[in-house]
Amino acid sequence: MKTIDLRSDTVTLPTAAMREAISSAELGDDVFEEDPTTIRLEKMAAERMGKEAAMLVASGTMGNLVCVLSHCGRGDEVILGDQSHTFFYEAGGIAALGGVHPHTIANQPDGTLRLEDIAGAIRADNVHFPRTRLVCLENTHNRCGGAALSAEYIEQVAALAHDRGLLLHLDGARVFNAAVALGVDVKELTRHVDSVSFCLSKGLSAPVGSLICGSKEFVAEARRNRKAVGGGMRQCGIIAAAGIEALEQMIDRLAEDHDNAKRLAQGIAEIGSLSIEPERVQTNIVYFDVAGGTVTAEQLLVKLGDKGVKILQVGPARLRAVTHYGISAEDINLTLAAIEEVMQR
Ligand SMILES: Cc1ncc(COP(=O)(O)O)c(C=O)c1O
Repeated sequence: MKTIDLRSDTVTLPTAAMREAISSAELGDDVFEEDPTTIRLEKMAAERMGKEAAMLVASGTMGNLVCVLSHCGRGDEVILGDQSHTFFYEAGGIAALGGVHPHTIANQPDGTLRLEDIAGAIRADNVHFPRTRLVCLENTHNRCGGAALSAEYIEQVAALAHDRGLLLHLDGARVFNAAVALGVDVKELTRHVDSVSFCLSKGLSAPVGSLICGSKEFVAEARRNRKAVGGGMRQCGIIAAAGIEALEQMIDRLAEDHDNAKRLAQGIAEIGSLSIEPERVQTNIVYFDVAGGTVTAEQLLVKLGDKGVKILQVGPARLRAVTHYGISAEDINLTLAAIEEVMQR
């Protein structure tokens, strides 16, 4: 039976070109900064993001952690969304390992933080309060349906943060999805941030790795923090080689994933007892709810699994499907047919 795995874009497997690049990569010890393939990827990443420097890390979670550790000291506070990946899904690492205090404010359904909420969360200089150091945004916003934050909005947040002496970090795990969806160069989305992390191992299909980018001083500090969390990776050119392929070959095709996600959302909207706002689907993430009817979200998940369609449950009635390199337009037709069959039963 064919498997259609829509749980996440992290399930993507490396392309043939990536496997080839991995096997022929020139390698060295990257902790000595002597791995030529890693150095090449880092230069490419910095250039793409419009920053002075970049550094390879093991994962998106490590990227966000190392960035927060590099901007903040123990007892400092970071303002971030209550639906943000860093707050929700990164094992509390910034607090557990960095002693950094998360100050959450509400994410709006479009993934933004209201400017007045950010301003209201910034602490006064008072011995009772932690020091606010950093604001974090996420683009695209995972739990807000893969919403893409615009360049204009990011610029406004950066202006507010910088005006108040704060730094701005962007969790850009899927920032290329945002750039493709908005039809802008990714630099437009990173121009005003002090650091950005982005992932190679999601829609870009590389097997491992994320990049963090910022000023030379920032990346030098981040290199120390990456070592402290055990992220010095020696001959990581085997990872970087696939990453170079990802940056060169896999960005433009993200539009295909977005088209498939929109078609999936439109199809789900036509199936009874499911609730979705298809107009909210901008990129490759589709959330929908089981609303009434006799089939529960758990039952839908299990019955789809029996038909080879894998999706993720993220709440009592909420399900998530993510399109990616391994999913074709025909897979979307098959998925919709499978959902319809289960819901009609
Ligand atoms: C927005 C966002 N940031 C960070 C991460 C963490 O990436 P990783 O799974 O590589 O640690 C993810 C993972 O899905 C994500 O969606």
